[in-house]
Amino acid sequence: MRRPSRVATFIDKGGTGKTTVAAHLGVALSEAGDDVLLVDLAGKQGDLSKHFGLWDEVEESIAEDDDWPNISTVFQDEWDIIVEKLGDAAVQDLILETDEGPDVIPAHPGLDSLDAELGNIDKPSERYSRLDDFLTEYVDPLGYDVILVDLPGITNNVTYNGLWATRNVVVPVEAGVFEASQLAALEEDLDKMDENFGVDVGLSMVVPNKVDRRTKLADEYLAEFREAYPEVVARPVPVSQEIRNAANEGRTVFDVEEPSRTGERARKRFADNADELRSRIADKPTRTGVEAVSDD
Ligand SMILES: Nc1ncnc2c1ncn2[C@@H]1O[C@H](COP(=O)(O)OP(=O)(O)OP(=O)(O)O)[C@@H](O)[C@H]1O
Ligand SMILES: [Mg+2]
Repeated sequence: MRRPSRVATFIDKGGTGKTTVAAHLGVALSEAGDDVLLVDLAGKQGDLSKHFGLWDEVEESIAEDDDWPNISTVFQDEWDIIVEKLGDAAVQDLILETDEGPDVIPAHPGLDSLDAELGNIDKPSERYSRLDDFLTEYVDPLGYDVILVDLPGITNNVTYNGLWATRNVVVPVEAGVFEASQLAALEEDLDKMDENFGVDVGLSMVVPNKVDRRTKLADEYLAEFREAYPEVVARPVPVSQEIRNAANEGRTVFDVEEPSRTGERARKRFADNADELRSRIADKPTRTGVEAVSDD
């Protein structure tokens, strides 16, 4: 059996489109025929599940005390014992179906204290490898083609678990000096992971998001990103009110009937980027973009 490709959406900055990109790439991959699992590690607000209209259901189960096991449970020491007791149901309990193709493991309020709990684990190799262990042992056998992990916009023990487990990162950026510097900082962070732990995380794709080509600034930053990361900059995703509206309605733009021209273009860009991503992450967790800028 082939191991699923894994990828995380991450940048140490809020609001650039990590969750939007995870949801849309997930649906695009699914429409192209892949079995996709989305994993929400981005925090208790449940943005990824909201994207598919599933968060009310999750909140209900929390209110009814029917929220165990959940995604935060898989990081605990007791997880193996839970699986021993519940068998396959333990993992199946975590997974919800969306009506746009991908399955999703929703976030949970337990993620809030997870960073601190992981911080109590002395050995880095144990602190950062919990998600990897869970995916390898319990999720890989389910036969998904792609596992996409949505991470919070902050560097902590949870994001390290996400990067460690996926070895591939997709970075949504907006046109701004802050994004450019955060992207450089991320590269340094990935280098440190490699040096310290021998974990080689590939910068698989930089997605310029919310791009308004009518502004000169957007063009300038696009050119800058392309120069700095020639191998990994993806096709830009336009700023689109339809993306925002769809998210508020609990769906992606792929589910919008008769989208506007901008909505249509956003769809096309996500589909093209999903194709490109698939070929980049298939069986090769390499760091293509990093070599490209290392001589600067
Ligand atoms: N291409 C786009 N056009 C218009 N709005 C967008 C686009 N991409 C994302 N948005 C909107 O921007 C906001 C932030 O997006 P999103 O939640 O995906 O970012 P994030 O990086 O996951 O944020 P956080 O750091 O809070 O997790 C949302 O309201 C989303 O609908
Ligand atoms: Mg998010």
